[in-house]
Amino acid sequence: SRSIPFYATATRMPQPGIRTIPQRYCVYMTFDLAAGAVARSLQVLLARWSAAIAQLQAGKTVGSVVPAAGTGAGQDTGEALDLGPASLTVTVGLGPGVFGDRFGLAGHRPATLAELPALPSDRLDPALTGGDLSLQACADDPQVAYHAIRDLARIARGTATVRWTVLGFGRASAGPDQTTPRNLFGFKDGTRNVSTDADYAKWVQAGTDQGWMAGGTYQIARKIQMNIEIWDADDVADQQKIFGRTKVDGSPLSGGHEHTTPDFAVKDAAGASKIDARSHIALAAHENNDGVKILRRPYNYTDGLNQYGQLDAGLLFLTYTNDPDNFVRLQRRLGASDLLNEYIAHVGSAVFAVPPAPAAGSYIGEALFA
Ligand code: HEM
Repeated sequence: SRSIPFYATATRMPQPGIRTIPQRYCVYMTFDLAAGAVARSLQVLLARWSAAIAQLQAGKTVGSVVPAAGTGAGQDTGEALDLGPASLTVTVGLGPGVFGDRFGLAGHRPATLAELPALPSDRLDPALTGGDLSLQACADDPQVAYHAIRDLARIARGTATVRWTVLGFGRASAGPDQTTPRNLFGFKDGTRNVSTDADYAKWVQAGTDQGWMAGGTYQIARKIQMNIEIWDADDVADQQKIFGRTKVDGSPLSGGHEHTTPDFAVKDAAGASKIDARSHIALAAHENNDGVKILRRPYNYTDGLNQYGQLDAGLLFLTYTNDPDNFVRLQRRLGASDLLNEYIAHVGSAVFAVPPAPAAGSYIGEALFA
């Protein structure tokens, strides 16, 4: 199975797991820094995580599975032995809490990094919200992704505690030349996404008000619950109106095929817009948002059944942008009028600065401690 390099091979490279062609599975976890953690403990954790991630992405263990002494706990938990690297990437994010006075890093806080404001569609559960650090592990084998998160969480013990986590089982976005997959509402997801270098440089790569972030970006994670049973009872024509696209082939309701550019002005015989102005794509498209684009890299998730015996499932919406405010502006528009709102609720949320990939011999965020 394929191995994706962890260390940067050029300057200003994003961490793996952002522009990487989306793998099939994702495990996402956020952490709180422990009350007693100091700048030095954060620094050591980032250095240890970086070294471990480099090993894991190469398909290796993070130390011995069986201690040399023959007794005691192993360093690596062992469940990924023989599975290969499986295209694993682990992406590390630093939350707003890292840049408080507590670690002496306030002067390094990027101007655009702050907790997200309250947003329409928020039904946030505090237990699924926030975090000082995030790890996004994606792989083509779910056990490889899980193992990475589990062993990285072990390394964090004493310095950071787990806050919330989501297991994503189906990619819901496509890279170039990749077939567009479907979300749990049965629609193709990821058709119109950031894909060109120019769009990436303009809309995803962070600005340089903080030199250490050059080549980095911002990650916003939203755990979005989808009311599956109610959706499944809805008229398919109404479902198509909600997204502004056909269900089977994903073409815009203005006509053409999946990759035809939607025409938001075209009207039907009765004079109504073929793509409803309150449809998800009409509200989210860059043509109707001052050109704003965000890189979407979501995964489907399920938590089994909820307390009412209904399917508890949705979308782990992972997105990358050069300014979290791009997401905020889009979500304000969607939250105010999107026809989709009746069927979804945002239950989890967090925002992180994602430093660039480190060069070999360095580690994520090293420049913060220079
Ligand atoms: C497009 C589903 C949440 C931003 C789409 C499409 C689908 C979809 C099916 C059309 C295909 C495509 O171009 O990828 C969903 C579902 C959501 C969700 C099921 C929640 C459960 C969000 C959120 C945002 C967002 C929270 C941003 C705040 C976008 C954007 C597009 C898009 C920017 C591309 C629009 C275009 O340029 O045509 N989404 N989405 N989506 N969505 Fe979402």
